Parts: sequence; C-alpha cells; structure tokens
Amino acid sequence: MTSPADASAAAAGPAELRVLLPSPEVLPTRRATAESSADPAGPEPRLVELYDSGPLSGHTPGMRVQANMVTTVDGAIAGADGRSSTISTPADMRVFSVLRSLADAVVVGAQTTRIERYTRLTEKTAYRAQRAARGQEPVPLLVIVSGTGSIDTARLAEQGTSPIVVHTATDDPETLAGLRGFCGAGNVVVHGDITPQAVLADLAVRGVRRVLCEGGPTLLGSWVSAGLVDELCLTVSPLLAGSGTEDHPGLLGTVRLPAPVPATPLSLLTDSSTYIHRLALPAGPAAAAAAEGESP
Ligand SMILES: NC(=O)c1ccc[n+]([C@@H]2O[C@H](COP(=O)([O-])OP(=O)(O)OC[C@H]3O[C@@H](n4cnc5c(N)ncnc54)[C@H](OP(=O)(O)O)[C@@H]3O)[C@@H](O)[C@H]2O)c1
Repeated sequence: MTSPADASAAAAGPAELRVLLPSPEVLPTRRATAESSADPAGPEPRLVELYDSGPLSGHTPGMRVQANMVTTVDGAIAGADGRSSTISTPADMRVFSVLRSLADAVVVGAQTTRIERYTRLTEKTAYRAQRAARGQEPVPLLVIVSGTGSIDTARLAEQGTSPIVVHTATDDPETLAGLRGFCGAGNVVVHGDITPQAVLADLAVRGVRRVLCEGGPTLLGSWVSAGLVDELCLTVSPLLAGSGTEDHPGLLGTVRLPAPVPATPLSLLTDSSTYIHRLALPAGPAAAAAAEGESP
C-alpha cells in the first residue's frame, strides 16, 4: 500500500493490465476521468467485479477480510525513506484504489499511519454509485490499532471525512480523553490486549462486512497468524530495495510461522513488470493451517 496522499496521483497512471488468472483477459485502460466518470457502471467495473468476487462470509462469519500489501522482489515492504509509495507502481495503485472502494472499513496499524502520513479517508465520488448499490456508506471507516494510543490527530484531520475508530490498550486518562474528543467516545475501544478477533468483533457490531487491512507488517503478522485474513492481495514490484534488517521488517513483521502456510491463487494480474497476486489464505491459527497443508 502507499499513503493516501500518493494514491490518487499514482492511480492516474496509464497502467495496462492483463489478467493471467483465473483466465486470460485484457483489462481496459483506467479512465483518465475516473473521479468524474459519467459511466453508470462506475470506474474499473471489471477490477471491482474481480476483487469483490469472494464470499462475504469468510474466516470470520459475516465478513470478508482482504489484506493489501506491496513488496519488492527481494521482499522489502518500504524503500529507503521508510515509505511504501517508493516501491509502488501505477498498476499497484489501480488495485489499491479498487480495494479501498470496496471496503466498509480500512484497518491499519498506528506506525503505518505515522510513517505514511494517513489522513481521514476521502470520499471518491466516482465510486459513490457502486458503493450505494452495495449498501455501503460513501466513505469507509478508518480503523487504527494503537497499543499506546499515540495518534497524530492533527495530521489525520488535515483532509478527508471518514469516521475514525481507534483500538487501543492505553489506560492513560489524558490520552483517552484526547482520542475520545477527536473520534467520538463510541469510537475509542479500549482493550487489555488488542487481538484481531476483538477488532473484528467490534467492526461486526458496527455493520462492517468488507474489511481491508492495509498493514503494516506488525498488524498483518498478527492477523495472518490468527488465521483471520481471507485474501492476501500482494503486489510484487520489479524493484530491489534491500531487506532483512531490524529497520526493514518482512511482510509479516517479526512473526515467524511454524511452517509455511499455503496460499491459493485466486487471481494474478500484470502490466508485464508488476505482478499482482490475490491469494486465498486458510482459516484458523497459522500453526494449524500449516500442519494441514503439509504433505503426508
Ligand atoms: N508495503 C506495504 O504494503 C506497507 C503497508 C503498510 C505499512 N508499510 C510500512 O511498514 C512500516 C511500519 O511497519 P510496522 O510493522 O511498524 O507497522 P504497523 O503494523 O502499521 O504498526 C505497528 C504499530 O501498530 C500498533 N499495533 C499493531 N498491532 C498491535 C497489537 N496487536 N496490539 C497493540 N498495538 C498494535 C502499535 O502501535 P503503537 O506504537 O501506537 O502502540 C505498533 O507499534 C512502515 O515503513 C510502512 O511504510 C508497508
């Protein structure tokens, strides 16, 4: 993924996409006028169809959880500047925009909001009709997971309209008062231990069905370990950036799975240099899923 600020600019790129899986197909070029498209089908109808094709009741009953990340071919999740926009491509941004357009809630770890300079999410008018037809609010909820409750509210308030829900483990009264003042009292959820299950249970109560987890690696690692991610949407950019140091965690942060978890391809797209995977992940804690995936 990349920062919201960079998303719209990069998404305007002329990426040609070919579908390699599930069956060969060439997608029309993204409309330059996407944000004001008069097409009643809305922008990117085929990509929307492709990424909305999974069941809405997955590993968590009544919900589909998609995770979206970008990596280089050597597994880096950010460039030397620490940001993912450096390793993104126009093709990645096409899919990034479509995935956001499908989400009822975008869930992200606090460090990613700080480094990627998140703001409230902005309503995309071109997708309004598609979202209304699916019974969705015009803009997804932005859900931030922060143990410390250290949220840059000034930055978040700079643009956008999405409500913000914060899941935190802090018991500091001043921090909680600040968060409640910014998000609204009902949108600050305090946990002893913030588990992915607890976050999803809260979102279910809020009527969320389509969840998009935008990482970062620490958050994604815990969600994958818990077996709660239905689909990993993973872009592989044709770049090398260096990885494997403390400053450059892997895709799942510092999580090491006890055995490889099988990922089943649902679709594969390319513009001939960037490869965009959509992979189904098994349900249940990663240890159990990995054991089931082992050869006899
Ligand atoms: N390539 C990509 O697609 C992509 C996507 C997203 C991010 N990134 C990159 O990833 C890097 C950040 O990595 P990261 O792993 O630090 O990001 P992260 O998962 O977004 O943030 C970690 C922080 O989130 C909070 N958090 C996450 N899970 C928690 C839990 N279970 N309980 C309590 N708090 C929890 C904590 O916040 P507090 O510190 O507030 O307690 C923790 O320090 C950045 O360089 C960013 O650019 C890349």
